[in-house]
Amino acid sequence: MNFIRHRDQTIKDFGKQWLKYSDNEGYYGSLEFFSDILTPFLKIDEMKGCKVAEIGSGTGRIVNMLLQTGVKHVIATEPSDAFEVLCHNILSPEKVTCLKITGDQLPPYGDLDYIFAIGVLHHIMDPAPVVEAAFKALHSGGHFFVWLYGKEGNGLYLALIAPLRVLTKRLPHYVLATLVEIIYWPLLFYIKFCRRLPLPLRGYMLLVLEKMSPEKRRLIIYDQLNPSYAKYYSRSEAEKLLMDGGFIDVRLHHRHGYSWTVIGTKP
Ligand SMILES: C[S@@+](CC[C@H](N)C(=O)[O-])C[C@H]1O[C@@H](n2cnc3c(N)ncnc32)[C@H](O)[C@@H]1O
Repeated sequence: MNFIRHRDQTIKDFGKQWLKYSDNEGYYGSLEFFSDILTPFLKIDEMKGCKVAEIGSGTGRIVNMLLQTGVKHVIATEPSDAFEVLCHNILSPEKVTCLKITGDQLPPYGDLDYIFAIGVLHHIMDPAPVVEAAFKALHSGGHFFVWLYGKEGNGLYLALIAPLRVLTKRLPHYVLATLVEIIYWPLLFYIKFCRRLPLPLRGYMLLVLEKMSPEKRRLIIYDQLNPSYAKYYSRSEAEKLLMDGGFIDVRLHHRHGYSWTVIGTKP
């Protein structure tokens, strides 16, 4: 029951979020950023001609990045009210099938080369059925690529954000947007200090956040405070997620010192 309540509320929260932050401009939606997300496991030209899926597509930035890499076809799934935004934002609709479904409802195609879940599984309380659906949709030798919030490297941040989130996930949009504005300015100073000092989350501040436009930095703060459910994965939890789903050759990368990229292969 708890699981269903969190699932439905998180999907509702993202629907609200993406209706307010609907575009994918700048570095946030760029192929350069996609290349950074995929490193060191995949190169952007590796997916050329492939049939792929994305679980939890939001406003479609990853779908459009995938199209730019030259994929043959993308299955894009999004369960929230952002589905309309996703369909509207897609660059080459003839190469995309959009499905308004949760991750566990991904059809068992059995012929996909790659499936991506970027920033999604950590918002799902019980992700095992989603991993199982991804496993069934891939062909033997296909890859599941996952990006997750990390526990390691986020200790101080989590000590601050966890109590704050108890309140912020319940706030209406305009109050949360005002709070984001208040946080935005000290954050800019923090980024500047990170250029000179080895402060916590320095890698993330300089290699990700600093490259974003002001609008997208605000979205990223909002995205941290808004969703009902968010889990920060330890290395062993991230590894177990794919191993328990039957994936082999599971490899992990601690990206910019704050998150986990995980890739596994269907035997
Ligand atoms: C942080 S966003 C990531 C969006 C996109 N992958 C990106 O990187 O831009 C997480 C997305 O997962 C979706 N989501 C939440 N619960 C889900 C579920 N149970 N199954 C599939 N997607 C879900 C949300 O609606 C949201 O659009």
